[in-house]
Amino acid sequence: MDKIRIAIAGIGNCASSLIQGIEYYKSKDENDAIGLMHWDIGGYKPFDIEVVAAFDIDKRKVGKDVSEAIYELPNCTAVFCPDVPKADVKVRMGCVLDGFSEHMNTYDEKRTFLLSDEPEATKEEIIKELRDSGAEILLNYLPVGSEEATRFYMDCALEAGVACINNMPVFIASDPTWAKRFEEKGIPIIGDDIKAQLGATITHRTLADLFNKRGVRLDRTYQLNTGGNTDFLNMLNRSRLASKKESKTEAVQSVVAQRMDDDDIHVGPSDYVPWQNDNKVCFLRMEGRLFGDVPMNLELRLSVEDSPNSAGVVIDAIRCCKLALNRGTGGILYSPSSYFMKHPPKQFTDDEAHKMTLEFICGERPN
Ligand SMILES: NC(=O)c1ccc[n+]([C@@H]2O[C@H](COP(=O)([O-])OP(=O)(O)OC[C@H]3O[C@@H](n4cnc5c(N)ncnc54)[C@H](O)[C@@H]3O)[C@@H](O)[C@H]2O)c1
Repeated sequence: MDKIRIAIAGIGNCASSLIQGIEYYKSKDENDAIGLMHWDIGGYKPFDIEVVAAFDIDKRKVGKDVSEAIYELPNCTAVFCPDVPKADVKVRMGCVLDGFSEHMNTYDEKRTFLLSDEPEATKEEIIKELRDSGAEILLNYLPVGSEEATRFYMDCALEAGVACINNMPVFIASDPTWAKRFEEKGIPIIGDDIKAQLGATITHRTLADLFNKRGVRLDRTYQLNTGGNTDFLNMLNRSRLASKKESKTEAVQSVVAQRMDDDDIHVGPSDYVPWQNDNKVCFLRMEGRLFGDVPMNLELRLSVEDSPNSAGVVIDAIRCCKLALNRGTGGILYSPSSYFMKHPPKQFTDDEAHKMTLEFICGERPN
C-alpha cells in the first residue's frame, strides 16, 4: 500500500511525537502495539505515513533534516524513539506572521523559539513546495494564537489542492466561511484543535456525561492545567488565548445536560511551570447535586506527557483523511472531526462520535 504523504507546519513537540511514533510502530505488530486506538484504518497501519515537507521558523530546526529537527530545543517531549532515520526532507523556513509572540523573546533560549535568519518563504514558494513534494495532507501545528499564520498555510493548502488537519484552535473547519472554501474545492479537512488520547478534555467530557447519565446536576466546574513546554509558554500571552479557551470550554459545555452559566465553568491553560517540560497536569473539580438536591463534589488530578497524547489521535486522523481522499470525498469530515477534535463544526457526544467514526472508516458514512 502507498504511503500517506504528509506536510507539517510547526515541527514542535507534537510533530516530534508523531514522527517518533510513525517509526516506533514499525517494529510492532497488531498484538503487541500499545497506545493506539486503531492498528489498521482502511488498510493503513500507523507506519504507512511519511513526511514529505516540513516548515518551521526556529533557527535550530530550519535547514535540518526533519528526523534531526524533531529532537532540537526548545522541543522537550519524551524521546521514546531516539533513532528516527534520515527522511531526506529538510525543514524549510516558513512565514512567521503572528506565529511568534513578542513575549517569547524574554525567555532563556533553551525554553523559547529562536527566529531563523533565513528569508521567509512566500506563499508561492510554500504552494510550490507542497506540490513538488507530492504532499497529500497538511498538518497545522502552529502555536496558539497564530491566526494570520494559520490562515496563510490553509490558503497555501487550498491553492495546492492539499487536504488539511487543523490540530490547533484557530477556527477553520468550524468556521463556515473557511469550511465553504474546502467544500467548494472538494478538499477534505478535519478540525479544529486536537482532542488528546486521554487528556483533560476527554476526561472532563466523560465525567460530565456520567453526571448526566446518573441524574446528577453539574452546578460548577473548573479545569486548571499546568505545563512547561513552549505551548504553555506561548499561552502566557493571554491575548492569544481567546480561541483556545472557547475551544476547551465548548468541548465541555456541549456535553453537560444543561448549559452552565459562564461564571460556573472555568476551563483553561492556567500556568507555565518550566520544570514540568512536556508533562501536563490537569486539576479538575466538579460540584453537583444528587438525589434530594444533596451536594457532592469530585476532584481529579491527571498527569500526562502532552505531545504523545496528541499524536495518538493524529495518527488516526491522518489515516481517516486519506480514506476521504481515496474516496473522492471533500469538505468537512464531520465524524472524524467530532471524535478527534475539541472544536469540530458539529459537536456530538463521544459515544456518538466514536460510532460515527467507525462507520466512516467502514464506508457506511460519507463524511
Ligand atoms: N499537545 C496536545 O495535546 C495538544 C492538544 C491540542 C492542541 N494542541 C496544539 O497544537 C499546536 C502545536 O503544539 P506543540 O506542543 O507542538 O507546540 P510547540 O510550541 O512545541 O511547536 C510549535 C512549532 O511551530 C513553530 N512555528 C511558530 N510559528 C511558525 C510559523 N509561522 N511557521 C512555521 N512554524 C512555526 C515553532 O518554531 C515550533 O517549532 C499548539 O497550538 C497546541 O496548542 C496540542
